[in-house]
Amino acid sequence: MIKNLKIKKVLECEIDNELTENIQELLTVSFQDIYPNNRIYFKQVPHFRFLAFNEEKHLLAQVGLDYRVMNLSGKLIKVLGIIDLCVSRESRTKGIASLLLSEIDKYCVKKDIDFLLLFADNKTLYLKNGYKSVKNKCKWLKIEDRNQTILGIGYEEKSELMIKKIGMNEWTEGDLDFLGYLY
Ligand SMILES: CC(C)(COP(=O)(O)OP(=O)(O)OC[C@H]1O[C@@H](n2cnc3c(N)ncnc32)[C@H](O)[C@@H]1OP(=O)(O)O)[C@@H](O)C(=O)NCCC(=O)NCCS
Repeated sequence: MIKNLKIKKVLECEIDNELTENIQELLTVSFQDIYPNNRIYFKQVPHFRFLAFNEEKHLLAQVGLDYRVMNLSGKLIKVLGIIDLCVSRESRTKGIASLLLSEIDKYCVKKDIDFLLLFADNKTLYLKNGYKSVKNKCKWLKIEDRNQTILGIGYEEKSELMIKKIGMNEWTEGDLDFLGYLY
């Protein structure tokens, strides 16, 4: 564990140029060639982020969060989506990603949130932190990330989908309408 790690919650619209540059560097290094090099989001801006800084105030890790209503088999649910969680290479396997996930858990207490939701190719970290895989056919607004234009509607099962129950509602099978883009 890194000593004196400081986690800050920042609203997206309050991020200044210097912080944008630091987040940009972290994202491009963490997601290598796949991340756009001219912005700090992939398809759409998140609503807020948790950022982890070391004692020297260097940014070590970040996670974006998107709050939205989704339609799960005809029932409306409030979802906090987890986006682009990453930790700088030299700070990995020291529990920082897990710490950010637990910070998100703490944030969810007494909030109007039914589920946390994310997509992961590698599920290990999330399974260790209480998330589970679910199988739902997803419907979402497709965005072409190069030109940032709407492409149409996607409708298919996503094997990377994971959730964590927060409120009293149970997750169910069936269609999951994102009522927006997919992160
Ligand atoms: C995935 C990632 C955020 C983990 O950060 P971390 O601070 O090292 O995570 P923790 O120390 O809390 O937990 C480490 C565990 O995460 C798991 N893990 C490692 N790489 C992973 C990956 N790419 N995706 C999911 N889980 C991963 C392993 O189980 C590891 O434990 P182990 O080394 O004992 O097997 C970090 O490796 C990273 O930034 N990777 C590049 C970006 C990325 O793939 N983000 C995930 C998007 S879904």
